[in-house]
Amino acid sequence: MTEQIKHLSAEAVMAPFVGRDHLTNRELFGQLALQLDLPESVLDSRAPVGKSGKECNLFERKVRWHQQTLKHLGVLERVDRGTWRLSGEAQKELTPAPKRSVLLAFSTDLGCALWASAEDVFSGLGEEITLAFTSPPYPLAKQRAYGNVDQTAYIDWLLPIMEPVVKSLRPGGSIVLNVGNDIFMPGSPARSLYVERLTLALHDSLGLHLMERFVWHNPTKPPGPVQWASIKRVHHNTAYEHVLWFTNDPELVLADNRRCLQEHTEKHRRFVGSGGVKRYTRNTGGAYTLREGSFGAHTEGAIARNVLTIPHRCPDQQPARDFASANGLQAHPALMPVRLAEHFVRFLSEAGDLIVDPFGGWATTGRGAELNGRRWLVTERCREYLMAAAQRFRDAPGFYSPMECSNA
Ligand SMILES: C[S@@+](CC[C@H](N)C(=O)[O-])C[C@H]1O[C@@H](n2cnc3c(N)ncnc32)[C@H](O)[C@@H]1O
Repeated sequence: MTEQIKHLSAEAVMAPFVGRDHLTNRELFGQLALQLDLPESVLDSRAPVGKSGKECNLFERKVRWHQQTLKHLGVLERVDRGTWRLSGEAQKELTPAPKRSVLLAFSTDLGCALWASAEDVFSGLGEEITLAFTSPPYPLAKQRAYGNVDQTAYIDWLLPIMEPVVKSLRPGGSIVLNVGNDIFMPGSPARSLYVERLTLALHDSLGLHLMERFVWHNPTKPPGPVQWASIKRVHHNTAYEHVLWFTNDPELVLADNRRCLQEHTEKHRRFVGSGGVKRYTRNTGGAYTLREGSFGAHTEGAIARNVLTIPHRCPDQQPARDFASANGLQAHPALMPVRLAEHFVRFLSEAGDLIVDPFGGWATTGRGAELNGRRWLVTERCREYLMAAAQRFRDAPGFYSPMECSNA
């Protein structure tokens, strides 16, 4: 069998059905041949198969074999003889990964995005993780299109997914969770304590140590909570979310703030240029003493503060936004900016380390890792998010996407 037929994947066979009512086998064979750029010799290659030794077209046989697998997984259904379409489930706006199936969505030389539930990937990883940077679905009262559980079920849902990730963490590795702050008790302006409960559960059940509760200050966060700030007027508008940082071993923690220094302000540069502190000063309470010349030495950059101010929209998302809008797909409703991911990637890992995100979305964590020379693995349950996410990696060395039916 030729190599091209051998490597024809189920994802490639499924891709031409997206956006089509149905396809006859003739149309499907034609599209695959075109998109995979298969020469006629491959399309026509025949050989005796099975016990009967009957001559068969190997390309068509392989496509039919994948059709049966996709039917078994509930992705394709037969309309009539020789005509297939995406099944009712798969035609919904967001296509969930079939149960217990792990399919490659796209990859680069450094990493890959899998169309799969996190539950089906991380227990069999067999590689040490340096950092898991992720934003799980928040326990919102109003469901997002991709689904989420409410605050009462949240910890029982999240912990089993995170457990295999924590088990694969190398000593001193980190788990960083971006979690929503704007979760309220039902019908009440009192905030949920789920973040506190989650923190305790990660410590008590998974043995993680809390290193920091970072604040992600988002200056462009839309006003809210509307009910409590705009209507009842008992709250301020919110402008931040939590980023909780845990490690399995605080003594060995693989962190280095020199990898994520921030640019000095112009004012600071002038201060250093003029020699630093001008005269001895002692705070009356003894809190600090400043000697002449203190802070006069040039440094590479400022140590970042634990409040990170980054707007949520970023230009890096644009190729995915353009693709989603051109193809009638939903834009992902809960994106983080790549600068946030990059900050933690640099702070908590070195080039070549493995970074993962079980709740991949538009693969922002993968992108942050890719841009900084780290290896990466993300899993995402909804196929359409991955199709858009792939557009962010098109220029990355080794980009390959079987979902698009082409070796771009
Ligand atoms: C808050 S979003 C993450 C967005 C991401 N940080 C980004 O910037 O693109 C959470 C994502 O987790 C996905 N998801 C939920 N449960 C999942 C599971 N069990 N396995 C894999 N993905 C899951 C949802 O489809 C959603 O896209």
